[in-house]
Amino acid sequence: MNPGPLALQGSLPPWDLERRRFPVAPLVDWLLAGLRHEGVPVSCLEDLPQLLDGPRARALARKLTRASAAPGPRALVEQTVRALLPEIAPERLWLQTFAHVRILLPGDHAAAFPPHCDFGLGHGLHERNLWLSLSEARGDGALHALPLLDSLALLHRTPEVRGIFHGPVVIPPVPTDAGEALLFTPLHLHRASPPTGGCRVSMDLRILPRGTVAPDLTFTPLHPGRTPAVP
Ligand SMILES: [Fe+2]
Repeated sequence: MNPGPLALQGSLPPWDLERRRFPVAPLVDWLLAGLRHEGVPVSCLEDLPQLLDGPRARALARKLTRASAAPGPRALVEQTVRALLPEIAPERLWLQTFAHVRILLPGDHAAAFPPHCDFGLGHGLHERNLWLSLSEARGDGALHALPLLDSLALLHRTPEVRGIFHGPVVIPPVPTDAGEALLFTPLHLHRASPPTGGCRVSMDLRILPRGTVAPDLTFTPLHPGRTPAVP
């Protein structure tokens, strides 16, 4: 059943696949160190298709996602968010506690994600998405996403917004280079498919405005200014 008016809420801008840049090297270095710690003899992300199969890549991505909440990587993620959003005081934001690491390998269809908007999967209309391209993501391996107005037009015509979007839809790729981020909303229709060339590595997380909405337990504060010490 349609859940009612599809209107964004909260004080954060309705970023419409806005493209920004962030310092990618610290996050890639953390990810490569984590993979080496798990026994993968990797020196750069381009090595991964030769070293991993799909199930192992997905298992490692889940492990790295869990590890992202530890103080060291969390400090890197917070640094990245502050660099991405210089116009927003960190004290105004909650940040998702776990940064979702995704490693997509050619042919790994189990890692694909069908068309959906995050609101349809239960995420609040106050939230905004930060999608970080850690590797180049082009062609099939790009994030595929529709602009906000096109997404809304389709969502308004569908009888069922909850869950995966089942209507006929063509969602185009939004190619990115390593170090580019896409900012968008829980009403943007998007999907992921396995790349046909090399691997695609990304990290995504959500933010919430503080004060106007109570975060659920998966959000924690974004700290201002100085990065907490790494133990
Ligand atoms: Fe999503």
